[in-house]
Amino acid sequence: MTNPIERRELFLAGGSLAAVGLGAGSAAETPAGNPPTPKLPPYAIKPLPLDPQKISGMSERILISHYENNYVGAVKRLNSIADQLATMDYEKTPGFVINGLKREELIATNSMILHELFFAGLGDQSKPGPALEAAMIRDFGSVERWRAQFTAMGRAEGGGAGWVLLTYSPRDKRLVNAWAADHTTTLAGGTPIVAMDMYEHAYQMDFGAKAGNYVDVFMKVIRWDNADRLYDEASRA
Ligand SMILES: [Fe+2]
Repeated sequence: MTNPIERRELFLAGGSLAAVGLGAGSAAETPAGNPPTPKLPPYAIKPLPLDPQKISGMSERILISHYENNYVGAVKRLNSIADQLATMDYEKTPGFVINGLKREELIATNSMILHELFFAGLGDQSKPGPALEAAMIRDFGSVERWRAQFTAMGRAEGGGAGWVLLTYSPRDKRLVNAWAADHTTTLAGGTPIVAMDMYEHAYQMDFGAKAGNYVDVFMKVIRWDNADRLYDEASRA
């Protein structure tokens, strides 16, 4: 199965947002003497990188709804925000307007990135490859101890919202299970390699309020070759 997630994009969730700047909009009018805002292409909507009929324990209905309403919705929202920012005169705009748009830009950007990782990380039952397994043993004691921690974090977030992210920290050259209260909470400088969506939209349609059942299903369908590839790229950087 091809994987549309590019490393450059995943890295953004770790704090490299400036690498792409704003994603849409035409050249803006700017105060005299300033160069115009560059015209950048809009953020692209990536296709769903899985067969929604073949994710064991998750219905096609919830996967399509999640993709269309939450992922596609985030990309469209991000492009709309980027259009507004591209034509905004920062020097004349009230601080609360700047704060609001930039906050929403970050929320939509990270929602796009983390949802792409979420969908790319779902697949058949598998296990970590040798390099990632060795790293998990190094940083958590064993794969099973990692699994127990990650699962408990998901259950702890049940009924609320957010993400549980297995993240590689290049600063410390180690893996961290990172807690995220929303799309914007990520480990600075880190690269998420497994993303478990704990927003209700990820499980309510299939599991009702039983978030723990969703967590158990998620843990069984992690597509480890995707995590292996991301860990390999991040740990070599
Ligand atoms: Fe989601």
